[in-house]
Amino acid sequence: MSETTGTNLSTRGLTKVFGGVRAVDGADVTFHDGKINALIGPNGSGKTTFFNCVTGMIKPDSGTVTFRGRQITGRSPHVIAHAGIGRSFQLCRIFPRMTVLDNVLVAVRRTRIRELLAPARTEEEVAKARELLVRVGIDHLEDSEARDLSYGQQKLLELAGVLMGDPDTIMLDEPAGGVNPSLIGRIGSLVKELNAEGTTFLIVEHNMDLVMSLSHHVVVFDRGRPIAEGTPDIVQSDPRVLEAYLGV
Ligand SMILES: Nc1ncnc2c1ncn2[C@@H]1O[C@H](COP(=O)(O)OP(=O)(O)OP(=O)(O)O)[C@@H](O)[C@H]1O
Ligand SMILES: [Mg+2]
Repeated sequence: MSETTGTNLSTRGLTKVFGGVRAVDGADVTFHDGKINALIGPNGSGKTTFFNCVTGMIKPDSGTVTFRGRQITGRSPHVIAHAGIGRSFQLCRIFPRMTVLDNVLVAVRRTRIRELLAPARTEEEVAKARELLVRVGIDHLEDSEARDLSYGQQKLLELAGVLMGDPDTIMLDEPAGGVNPSLIGRIGSLVKELNAEGTTFLIVEHNMDLVMSLSHHVVVFDRGRPIAEGTPDIVQSDPRVLEAYLGV
């Protein structure tokens, strides 16, 4: 971490083309260590594709991804998770017919390769999963099937699963999307708390009130690459940002 002085994740010339669509188009992006970083931009501007390239869900066509000074370009999702990046998905990824507690417990096996073959859950794992359910505020639902939770509660469950892997960096794709306002508040507070404890966040989000109140650093995407970045204040007053959103 020493020689990277404050850089958590950076991409250079990152590119992903789908047919004729340059979803991510030569993106040079820098996110800062220890901060809440936001990636915003209009629908279809390439935010999710960018996240997928960074976390190894899809291989970029060209360009590089560096995480804390280490090249992770094109590595597999479990290698990247093992390097310390946890992520959530735009559409919640949980097992609907499994209980809430079991969903948190399986999450760790999906992110930690050496534990995939472990024979059974340990008492420590169960205790940790329960602790995390308390932390995200859905411990009273531990025995419910995940499908019986509200969408916002499912997002909190997914976050508990991400936390099982002890990531030092967490990427969230639209944590507030489709979530009712009271739970959006809880998600925001949790992000702030975890960040105060040292976790770096990279967040894609359309809810501007949430983005502007949470973020230290905002990167604005348009057509697959950044067009503006800086503090929320600076970004909000940048005419290029309005232009991108309003299509002027
Ligand atoms: N698997 C795919 N196959 C073909 N085209 C794709 C694929 N994934 C994304 N795209 C296209 O790439 C572009 C960027 O999509 P992406 O989902 O990354 O945008 P986004 O910024 O996350 O949008 P939103 O805010 O709506 O979630 C869009 O034109 C989209 O249609
Ligand atoms: Mg998206």
